[in-house]
Amino acid sequence: MDKRTEIIRKRYDRFAKIYDLMEKPMEASKLSDWRKDAIKELQGKVLEVGVGTGKNIEYYPKNLDVTGIDFSSKMLEKARRKAKKLNKEIKLIYMDAQNMDFDDNTFDSVFTTCVFCSVPDPIKGLKEIRRVCKPNGKIVMIEHVRSERKVIAALMDIFNPIVVRTFGANINRKTISNIETAGFNNIQVKDLWLDIVKKIIIINKK
Ligand SMILES: C[S@@+](CC[C@H](N)C(=O)[O-])C[C@H]1O[C@@H](n2cnc3c(N)ncnc32)[C@H](O)[C@@H]1O
Repeated sequence: MDKRTEIIRKRYDRFAKIYDLMEKPMEASKLSDWRKDAIKELQGKVLEVGVGTGKNIEYYPKNLDVTGIDFSSKMLEKARRKAKKLNKEIKLIYMDAQNMDFDDNTFDSVFTTCVFCSVPDPIKGLKEIRRVCKPNGKIVMIEHVRSERKVIAALMDIFNPIVVRTFGANINRKTISNIETAGFNNIQVKDLWLDIVKKIIIINKK
């Protein structure tokens, strides 16, 4: 791992202890409904990138064959405990999304929730998703992005360095444009909250 990746990885290791607690208000508002709704889009062999503490695990139906990866061993530890408690069979692997160990065209679906705010090199990570997802496979993402509204965007830019330093996440990522740069072209985007939280569905045309 390069130095920048190692720094962000360590921030998530540190954040793992309080992640679920800090996330609770968002979960209670709408996030858990968005998760459940997005999971309905998945099929077959599924890769969850940046599985974190395993917030999506409880919503996976039994017919999905799910593999979750994360580069924070502390976040993964929590996910493993959650999967065991919920009696869910899910493979959880320590892996960097920017350099995945999977063969090309391995997964039918790829899922991410609030991950591409923190992957150190998002374009590299998105290209890896493109590689490991089968042709015509579906990539489903719930991601927060930089607003297009000038004042909000300026505030996001101002506060971003503090948020990155504290949690490892960026609040001003231009994720849709990163997705296009990574080579995807069949992209559907729906606003879930203002123009900041988005549900993104990509058909992996290769
Ligand atoms: C904000 S958390 C979201 C966790 C989970 N997806 C959720 O919805 O609660 C971002 C997660 O992405 C992981 N992550 C960030 N960059 C990564 C990378 N390059 N490889 C693997 N995991 C990464 C972090 O360790 C963290 O667990």
